[in-house]
Amino acid sequence: MRDIIAVTKESGAVPLPSPTPFSRDGEKELEAFSGKEMEPADSLFYLQQKEERRTPIAEQLLETLEKESDEASEKSSDFSALQGFKSAWYSLPSAEKKNFKEDEVSECFEEPLLGSLETDDVKSTHNGEAPLESREGENPSIPKEKCQDSIGKGESYKSQEENESTEKLEKLNKMVRVHSYEKIVDDASVAHIPLKSCASIGTNFENFEPNSIYSAIKLNNTENTAMMEEAWETLKKSYVYYKGLPVGTLAAMDPTAEALNYNQVFVRDFVPSGLACLMRPASAGGDPEIVKNFLLKTLHLQGWEKRIDNFTLGEGVMPASFKVLYDSHRQRETLVADFGGSAIGRVAPVDSGFWWIILLRSYTKCTHDYTLSEKPEVQRGMKLILNLCLSDGFDTFPTLLCADGCSMIDRRMGIYGYPIEIQALFYFALRCSRQMLKPERDGKELIKRIDKRITALSYHIRNYYWLDFTQLNNIYRYKTEEYSHTAVNKFNVIPESIPDWVFDFMPLRGGYLIGNVSPARMDFRWFLVGNCIAILSSLVTPAQATTIMDLIEERWEDLIGEMPLKIVYPALEGHDWRTVTGFDPKNTRWSYHNGGTWPALIWLLTAACIKTGRPQIAKRAIELLEQRLSKDGWPEYYDGKAGRYVGKQARRYQTWSISGYLVAKLMIENPANLLIISLEEDKRISKPKLTRSISF
Ligand code: GLC
Repeated sequence: MRDIIAVTKESGAVPLPSPTPFSRDGEKELEAFSGKEMEPADSLFYLQQKEERRTPIAEQLLETLEKESDEASEKSSDFSALQGFKSAWYSLPSAEKKNFKEDEVSECFEEPLLGSLETDDVKSTHNGEAPLESREGENPSIPKEKCQDSIGKGESYKSQEENESTEKLEKLNKMVRVHSYEKIVDDASVAHIPLKSCASIGTNFENFEPNSIYSAIKLNNTENTAMMEEAWETLKKSYVYYKGLPVGTLAAMDPTAEALNYNQVFVRDFVPSGLACLMRPASAGGDPEIVKNFLLKTLHLQGWEKRIDNFTLGEGVMPASFKVLYDSHRQRETLVADFGGSAIGRVAPVDSGFWWIILLRSYTKCTHDYTLSEKPEVQRGMKLILNLCLSDGFDTFPTLLCADGCSMIDRRMGIYGYPIEIQALFYFALRCSRQMLKPERDGKELIKRIDKRITALSYHIRNYYWLDFTQLNNIYRYKTEEYSHTAVNKFNVIPESIPDWVFDFMPLRGGYLIGNVSPARMDFRWFLVGNCIAILSSLVTPAQATTIMDLIEERWEDLIGEMPLKIVYPALEGHDWRTVTGFDPKNTRWSYHNGGTWPALIWLLTAACIKTGRPQIAKRAIELLEQRLSKDGWPEYYDGKAGRYVGKQARRYQTWSISGYLVAKLMIENPANLLIISLEEDKRISKPKLTRSISF
């Protein structure tokens, strides 16, 4: 494969304000109040007034309230509908909000609306990083479990007042559904409308609705109950126990294939399993405990001395996988972890630590159990991971230099350098830890470094990794050998090295972050994980996010085909395959990591679709997947250009194929679940403006 390097752009980074401290002052205040013998209801009200996040004390108060008032819990039977409506409401564009009568909406909310009927910007986020509890579409006063627990509860006695408000709610929900349907119809016609101008990053997308998740409400009835049940059952069977507690899930449970290392708990594979357990309503068997145990157990493994041959790895490295063995001699269970020493190519998994931080934030966001992330050992674990990536060195780029095979693609595939898969995860983890790190002692200094890196990294990626029709044309016309700092072609990309396929692949409408950028090297391949993570973490601008979705629609046959989803496009063939993969027989063209199809990735696509207000794209993909995945025995991957064939060496009953599907369904059914894994845009980061330098 030919490589090339490109670049343009000029824009200034905005200095960061001082970090938003992560404090527990509110809790202390509450304790003081509690000392004054406040009624639980008063204390809770106080908490809400203060817009404090729900601390364990608040949880306790809620519990007390629950016990005291049966009525209150009965009343909550409409919580989920109400939550759904609220999420939808907050994401409606102001023009659409005007179609509702203000008093009707306010009554439904039973609280002042965050956004007036005229206001579009209803986010409770500030300029800085939003605190965990104050995400859009989520009412901090309503515990998630409560809201979810109410699902499926039988009819209960309701007062006339309650009946009236329920009727109003139903009426409003109906209205929202009608609106949602119209939106879906509109969205469905997107592919047929005249082409928009090429979405270069300088383009202003006035109409972009980053959180228009309301249209997903219409998709509630897409349930495929039997398949879901089978998936939950199989997921449960994959649980791995250590000293009686579930600590993870097996990578695969294929009785017909050799186990190899698939009988281990992989950190990255556990992420969708963990998310499924978090997103599932408590009443239906949701299981945040396994996530907590997993996070603590892997943290414990991080503390091990990691040695490969005579070389010791960095303290912060998290394992790729671990397994539980029974030591019959000592008659007890032991853990065996792999930090890359047993992996193909002996590369440490750079992604593991990032996934660990991301999952920790999801756990905290979902359960509101702040005690875990605040534990000194958890804070230390986070810091160790971050120190590995934030240390000063010879780098001139804010991106992270990586060896081939250090991520989900754990074999040689030409990923070395600065792969987008890792950079996007790096950014995501930086932003998650920014929310969880306590500014105590060395924490303050670290937070400053994180802020600086977040700014530099987003600037670099948004500008140098971005490719659309306009940008491709710019690169095609690059001058080379520009020496000064005014160079447009900053990395000296030789235009002749642009591979032919990119010219055909690039639609007029659509764009994406390319696979890798380094001196005289641009890997133009499309990588799904990097692009979706960039959307979820808001590494890309809202305009870029929507343009990535456009690309998926425009290149559906290539990127989705008959089974979602291509991990990378296109495949390396012939000479490129030989030189880049080193003749890897597992990574032959359109197989496995080399253009193979991975159903496990469906949750990432679904999350990105909901975030960009395009749930119908995810729905289409999920429908394709539902036609075959269970019948084929939940394979790890599919082969072929259209993803038609079960992969040559694919394991069946691959756990993340199962849990990835469950997470996708849980998000489509309840779009508010997106908030567990997604971050709002960081308002402090300036939007890139693509301009041509004078040296062009
Ligand atoms: C393969 C995949 C890797 C995954 C592991 C366990 O090695 O390449 O991404 O984590 O299997 O499923």
